[in-house]
Amino acid sequence: MAGALMTLLFFFSSVLFCSYALVSPGSSNVTADESTLLAFKSMFASAGLLASWNSSSHYCSWPGVACSRRHPERVTSLRLGSSNLSGRLSPILGNLSFLKVLDLHDNNLVGLIPPELGRLSRLRVLNLSTNSLQGNIPLPLVVGCSNLTMLHLSDNRLQGQFPTQIGASMKNLVLLNVEKNGFSGEIPPSLANFPLLELLSFRLNRFSGKVPPALGNLSNLGVLTLDYNKLSGTIPSSLGQLSSISSLTLGFNNFTGLIPNSIWNISSIQEFSVQENHLIGSLPPEGFNYVPNLQIIGTDHNHFHGSVPASVGNASSLWLVQLGANPLSGIIPSEIGRLRYLKQLLLSDSMLEAKEPNDWKFITALTNCSQFSWLYLSSCNFGGVLPDSLSNLSTTMANLYLDSNKISGTIPKDIDNLVNLQALVLDNNYFTGVLPSSIGKLQNLQTLSAANNKIGGPIPVALGNLGALNMLNLGSNAFSGSIPRIVGNLTNLLSLRLANNSFTGQIPSEVFNISALSNGLDLSNNNLEGSIPLEIGNLESIIVFHAEYNKLSGEIPTTIGACQRLQNLYLQNNFITGGIPSALGQLKGLEVLDLARNNLSGPIPKFLGDLTLLYSLNLSFNNFAGEVPTVGVFSNASGVSIKGNVPSTGIVLNNRWFVDVTLNSTLLLE
Ligand SMILES: *[C@@H]1O[C@H](CO)[C@@H](O)[C@H](O)[C@H]1NC(C)=O
Ligand SMILES: *[C@@H]1O[C@H](CO)[C@@H](O)[C@H](O)[C@H]1NC(C)=O
Ligand SMILES: *[C@@H]1O[C@H](CO)[C@@H](O)[C@H](O)[C@H]1NC(C)=O
Ligand SMILES: *[C@@H]1O[C@H](CO)[C@@H](O)[C@H](O)[C@H]1NC(C)=O
Ligand SMILES: *[C@@H]1O[C@H](CO)[C@@H](O)[C@H](O)[C@H]1NC(C)=O
Ligand SMILES: *[C@@H]1O[C@H](CO)[C@@H](O)[C@H](O)[C@H]1NC(C)=O
Ligand SMILES: *[C@@H]1O[C@H](CO)[C@@H](O)[C@H](O)[C@H]1NC(C)=O
Ligand SMILES: *[C@@H]1O[C@H](CO)[C@@H](O)[C@H](O)[C@H]1NC(C)=O
Ligand SMILES: *[C@@H]1O[C@H](CO)[C@@H](O)[C@H](O)[C@H]1NC(C)=O
Ligand SMILES: *[C@@H]1O[C@H](CO)[C@@H](O)[C@H](O)[C@H]1NC(C)=O
Ligand SMILES: *[C@@H]1O[C@H](CO)[C@@H](O)[C@H](O)[C@H]1NC(C)=O
Ligand SMILES: *[C@@H]1O[C@H](CO)[C@@H](O)[C@H](O)[C@H]1NC(C)=O
Repeated sequence: MAGALMTLLFFFSSVLFCSYALVSPGSSNVTADESTLLAFKSMFASAGLLASWNSSSHYCSWPGVACSRRHPERVTSLRLGSSNLSGRLSPILGNLSFLKVLDLHDNNLVGLIPPELGRLSRLRVLNLSTNSLQGNIPLPLVVGCSNLTMLHLSDNRLQGQFPTQIGASMKNLVLLNVEKNGFSGEIPPSLANFPLLELLSFRLNRFSGKVPPALGNLSNLGVLTLDYNKLSGTIPSSLGQLSSISSLTLGFNNFTGLIPNSIWNISSIQEFSVQENHLIGSLPPEGFNYVPNLQIIGTDHNHFHGSVPASVGNASSLWLVQLGANPLSGIIPSEIGRLRYLKQLLLSDSMLEAKEPNDWKFITALTNCSQFSWLYLSSCNFGGVLPDSLSNLSTTMANLYLDSNKISGTIPKDIDNLVNLQALVLDNNYFTGVLPSSIGKLQNLQTLSAANNKIGGPIPVALGNLGALNMLNLGSNAFSGSIPRIVGNLTNLLSLRLANNSFTGQIPSEVFNISALSNGLDLSNNNLEGSIPLEIGNLESIIVFHAEYNKLSGEIPTTIGACQRLQNLYLQNNFITGGIPSALGQLKGLEVLDLARNNLSGPIPKFLGDLTLLYSLNLSFNNFAGEVPTVGVFSNASGVSIKGNVPSTGIVLNNRWFVDVTLNSTLLLE
């Protein structure tokens, strides 16, 4: 049986082969399609995949080419996606009149879409996505390719008005994707004439005007994506009739008015977003009772007021709830804890509040959400004490943002239960007590920020275990004791901020072994003493170094010349002695240098004038002497301060001019 089939196949293909072989070039339709393909190929700079398109094989077997069974000489499909084709589209493609599929996505096509493609009346699929095509959609294409089911033109440089005639043809269109182009003008209401349309994506263009209410008639539409345009007016309530819709995204436009009530009744909806518009009103109390499939809701960056409705707990498929940046008020309903799939609850920048322990019950409720990982409550009105149940949130917790609230009390000591925490952000609250050393068990922590609170005591030594930490900010608290040497074990730190505390003792040299430090090292406003360790030269990436307002003494280490990326150096208000080391002249990127109010002496080096980027130099209230250079930063009086330098060898005239006897120069004192 199988043998017979093979024989039959062999016979059949021999017949086909003979029929090709009998055709002489130029005499029939067979070679017409072949020469069309060769003309198409000739438009591309490098043949690439098309190198094998040559006479050594029949064109119907060339890569990407398929021919008709009934008309074996006619090409029906050309699939050359991701084939590195560079060049223009040949108008001659319009001669492949049997073509059903033309897929050239993800190439380097440039120039215009040839209007001749409109001659492809049998075309079902046209995919020109992810190229660099320009111009508009040619009208002949819209009118001629009336049998298209899929039109992919996304990610090109197309522009102009979207053709209104589109609704008059293409009755079979199922998919229309023109996202990531530059189309402008209004969305044609005639799009509503595509009864089979399942996906319509216009995102990331420049469409303006209102959304045509007629779109509500697209009863098969599953995806309507209009985000990132300039659409305005109200959201038509007819969109609530889209009974098959699963994704409706209208974000990043200029919509005004209310969310139509009808939207909250679309039981098929899975994703709904209206982020960054000018919408008003409130989320209806019953709003979440009829959307059992809703997984993602985004209403952030609008003007919604009122509370988070308790019905949210009934939208049982939700995993991403992004309602922040709205003037929402009241407490977070405990019903939120019924969302078994909840991963992200993003409510920052609102007026949501907690005053008494009961108001924090939602945290206890959230402990039921086993996949919970992001809680963003920054810049709200949360006050009172964090409930201990915070530590019982799912171990999947990754990001916990509670900054800029009015939270008091201590940081829960069992916080180390949240073993997968990556960011713990508590800045700008009223936290007291100490930093629990259990934090040292959070091995995945990358950001630990608790600045501007009232946390005291020493930095726990256990913090040295946090090898993944990128950012440690404990500034503006009441920390005391010395900076522990184990801070030097945090080798991935990009930023270390300990300013405005009561740290004492020397700066441990280990701090300067964190060669990754770049975004900043701030030790200012403490009681640190001793000299600046020579190891400062290890900070090859440091851009800003603050050590002002301490009790540092000794000289500026010459090793500082190795900090080649240093732009801002603040050492004012210390007891630093000696001269300005020539090493500072190696810091070609230096922009701000503040050495005021130390015990520095010696001449003001000329090389400071050669640092071309230096625009602010403060040397005041030291013991500098000698001539003031005149070039560079010194040429701009407002960029330099040298007042209050009174060396021991000289006389003051009129309380204003100082004459240095040894160096024979005069300085203006004030
Ligand atoms: C060849 O083309 C002519 C006109 O272009 C057409 O009438 C004829 O049917 C075609 N032959 C085949 C085998 O397709
Ligand atoms: C393409 O079609 C046009 C018009 O029918 C014809 O003049 C031209 O010769 C064709 N080109 C090829 C390469 O077949
Ligand atoms: C022609 O195509 C064959 C593969 O079909 C390839 O091996 C050969 O190198 C090609 N010839 C030229 C001149 O590119
Ligand atoms: C793509 O084509 C360019 C020339 O147009 C060539 O330089 C490059 O190597 C090709 N890339 C691949 C992956 O074939
Ligand atoms: C369009 O598609 C329909 C249904 O598949 C088919 O009957 C008709 O012949 C096609 N029209 C053209 C011009 O190919
Ligand atoms: C069209 O191209 C896009 C990429 O630009 C690709 O994701 C999609 O699968 C293609 N679809 C068809 C039907 O060719
Ligand atoms: C929707 O279609 C109905 C007929 O099916 C029509 O009467 C109505 O005007 C259409 N709605 C819109 C907004 O175009
Ligand atoms: C958006 O709407 C506001 C008024 O609501 C208007 O002032 C502004 O010009 C609009 N912006 C765009 C890009 O349409
Ligand atoms: C939403 O559905 C409910 C229950 O089916 C119904 O009572 C209500 O009138 C509907 N609201 C809108 C605006 O369609
Ligand atoms: C949640 O759904 C249940 C059952 O439909 C209903 O009884 C309850 O009132 C709903 N909750 C809210 C807050 O609307
Ligand atoms: C800190 O680093 C030093 C040397 O690299 C090492 O001996 C020590 O065990 C580390 N301490 C901690 C707490 O990781
Ligand atoms: C000091 O400066 C004055 C005026 O510039 C000059 O006349 C005098 O010779 C100088 N004295 C010394 C010691 O250089």
